[in-house]
Amino acid sequence: MADKSSKLNTQAVLAMKGAGYYSARTRGAKNAIDKVRPMLEDALQSLPEQAVLRLADFGAADGGTSQEMWAGLIANLRASGDSRPIEMLYTDLASNDFSTLFRTMQGMQGDTTHAYQNSHENVFVHGCGTGFHQQLMADASLCLGFSATAMHYVSEKPCEIEDHVHMVGATPEERAKFSAQAAADWERILLARASELAPGGRFICLNFGIDEKGRYLGHTGGQSMFDNFTLHWRTLRDAGQITDQEFIRATFAQHYRTVKEFIAPFDNPSSAVRQAGLNLIGVETQLTPCPYNALYQEAGTKMSSAEYAASLIPTTRSWSETVFRTALDSRPEAEIQTLVDAFYSAYEQQVAADPSGHAMDYIHILMAIEKQA
Ligand SMILES: C[S@@+](CC[C@H](N)C(=O)[O-])C[C@H]1O[C@@H](n2cnc3c(N)ncnc32)[C@H](O)[C@@H]1O
Repeated sequence: MADKSSKLNTQAVLAMKGAGYYSARTRGAKNAIDKVRPMLEDALQSLPEQAVLRLADFGAADGGTSQEMWAGLIANLRASGDSRPIEMLYTDLASNDFSTLFRTMQGMQGDTTHAYQNSHENVFVHGCGTGFHQQLMADASLCLGFSATAMHYVSEKPCEIEDHVHMVGATPEERAKFSAQAAADWERILLARASELAPGGRFICLNFGIDEKGRYLGHTGGQSMFDNFTLHWRTLRDAGQITDQEFIRATFAQHYRTVKEFIAPFDNPSSAVRQAGLNLIGVETQLTPCPYNALYQEAGTKMSSAEYAASLIPTTRSWSETVFRTALDSRPEAEIQTLVDAFYSAYEQQVAADPSGHAMDYIHILMAIEKQA
């Protein structure tokens, strides 16, 4: 049995794969960010009158997926005659690959088209390796905060999920624990942003969640990605290749909040979040189609199902592998590598055999939040 009482620190298992692997394999994440640019453009119209324009990207990973958007926003600001110094703060966990991020912004990595530090004077890029559940900058100093696809990670796992890998397949009791953890985390996140934001400043975020139709990442019709992760992980257990404990320990430290859960802190004017001066100015849900599936559909007979599977599975691997590796962390590295390779290879073979219904469409809940002026 798993020890369900212990609080499990998740910091070590969250990091995305480094060296630019994350951005290269997550075109869907970039597409989702590019679609919310109008919400940020709108925020630029009413920025606080601070001497220094501080912007922040919370949970930015290697910065690659949001780089084009920030480059465009900064170019627009300068074109509008706003010459204030800009401080751009990228935050993520201490384990994040900040080196790639800094190299990317300075045009020292890959495609340099959007290396905005090279194109503008008075733009200063900083990094912060402290988690976003804490306040990360001085009171009332942030003009525009942004976060994409990051706040579904809970600060700690409230329990392991015994017969599934994700809260979407948890028992009602397990799910209630994740829900309570996510509610406490969301309040902490919002209160921290309330302190950081200057009056009139905005926080725009898009987070994985469950939409009005019950859809979520990789579960938008047809196959369910988290059920398939569970299926292949269970097969390794049933074949005696991993232990019962290793099976259970592969629990994603994530909670997909419903729209209701996201807006709960704003419902009541006497809530801590409202009292801290935050108001919700917009919420909507967004489906971003899986780019790999879109390519496969367009290619018709020019792409085989095996080629499609070989393009789809690496994108799931980019953000999920650390969970399965960590579950195996008492083993030598060579064994871990063999097991995770076998796991993803089995999933790839499943998709290659019958690709219908397999796609990683993104479901996001978008929110625009403003600090009272
Ligand atoms: C799926 S990636 C999203 C990266 C990027 N924002 C995007 O949309 O492509 C999630 C990121 O959130 C970071 N993250 C998770 N928990 C965090 C926390 N408590 N504080 C800061 N970053 C966190 C992870 O390390 C990871 O880089």
